[in-house]
Amino acid sequence: MKIDVLLGLQWGDEGKGKIVDVLTPKYNVIARFQGGPNAGHSLEFNGIKHVLHTIPSGIFHSETLNIVGNGVVIDPVIFKKEIDALEKMGVDARKNLHISKKAHLILPTHRLLDAASEAAKGLAKIGSTLKGIGPTYMDKTGRNGIRVGDISRPDFMEKYRFLVEKHLEMLRHFDFKFDLNEVEPAFLEGIEHLKTFVHIDSEHVVNKAIKEGNSVLAEGAQGSLLDIDFGSYPFVTSSNTISAGACTGLGVAPNKIGEVLGIFKAYCTRVGSGPFPTELDNEVGEKIRQIGREFGATTGRPRRCGWLDLPALRYSIMINGVTQLIMTKADVLSGFEQIHVCTHYKIDGQLTKDFPFDIDPSIVTPVYESLAGWNEDLTGIRNFKELPATLKNYITYIENALEVPITIVSVGPDREQTIEKAVVLIS
Ligand code: GDP
Ligand code: IMO
Ligand code: MG
Repeated sequence: MKIDVLLGLQWGDEGKGKIVDVLTPKYNVIARFQGGPNAGHSLEFNGIKHVLHTIPSGIFHSETLNIVGNGVVIDPVIFKKEIDALEKMGVDARKNLHISKKAHLILPTHRLLDAASEAAKGLAKIGSTLKGIGPTYMDKTGRNGIRVGDISRPDFMEKYRFLVEKHLEMLRHFDFKFDLNEVEPAFLEGIEHLKTFVHIDSEHVVNKAIKEGNSVLAEGAQGSLLDIDFGSYPFVTSSNTISAGACTGLGVAPNKIGEVLGIFKAYCTRVGSGPFPTELDNEVGEKIRQIGREFGATTGRPRRCGWLDLPALRYSIMINGVTQLIMTKADVLSGFEQIHVCTHYKIDGQLTKDFPFDIDPSIVTPVYESLAGWNEDLTGIRNFKELPATLKNYITYIENALEVPITIVSVGPDREQTIEKAVVLIS
């Protein structure tokens, strides 16, 4: 068996949580491979919406093993809140959620450093989720981090204090007020809570699962355009969000990757700072934001909205080796007379389909093609054949432009509001 990967092709929030939940019955194992509580993965069923930050989106299927991989960074405080929320819904995650001993911990001082760094940047801020993601990955690559496996060691508190002292020294360089005593008790309580979960060598568990013929889906967080190497740097997150990240974030070899499911919205959104070539900073963008309820699942911030960007999608498909596409939020575009799609960028008067080094609006001008829209409410449609002809045309147009088939079209946030256009291949 091989391991499939589902990941976002845009700037995050493509609907990964919903689709992973929908696909979970096809898999034995769902594993998160990177990111942390900067992610907000929403899924909806029986009229209730759930938002997960650290926990994989397969958690509502009790027969599926959910793994938080070594590439993930965990805030024990947020993790406890997620578990408490699940318990309230009658979900006992202790049974089917295992955590890698190699996953790194987000300390309260990582969050403070994130906030201090953003405040110091002023207008040039990244627009981080302030969850401490950047500083935690910096400590990981700087070889100072503390991992889940460390919390049961006798010298854990010593290690913790040593790193906190280092952070306090760093914080002195910022003009930033904070009170560590206010946030530390919850962290230590979170550590005790985290100890009650099963900690595993997830690389062994995942590889054994594959070897024994079990199906595994790796769930990405963020999106390819937020990737630390290939995203719109420096306005990116601090991990590899692309399919290669599943190899390092779970300990699986590249030749063990099977299907790569790339998910995108029928339009485009971005939350936080950074260039966004097809952004609609006008009433059309506002209309998409309102209809699509485009407000962050983690921070509540309004998401910036714009038209679909094919050069960006083509780039993401190339970097990830996408084999199947999933399009979400088609329902949100109902009622737009014309739908615009960016087919090329104009750079120095030249048309290109390639995603360049710099996508700043001063350098890149998007070139659009206009397609007829549709008026029908799609949210009750469950069969591809019943979709309006103009939407089918939009789908075919995208498939032809990107040379990858779309297998799922999502027409609403609920599990049920999902149309399998073609058989979803799994490894
Ligand atoms: P993720 O981070 O990729 O999991 O996506 P988010 O959960 O942050 O954002 C996607 C939002 O769109 C959530 O509120 C979902 O409930 C919602 N959603 C997902 N698919 C659809 C869809 O097809 N139509 C509509 N209207 N909403 C959707
Ligand atoms: P999901 O998994 C959308 C964005 C932040 C900011 C940048 C860096 O729900 O798709 P960070 O806190 O990672 O240092 O922030 O990345 N960002 C996301 N945007 N969806 C996400 O996750 C995001 N996670 C981080 O807004 O611009
Ligand atoms: Mg999200």
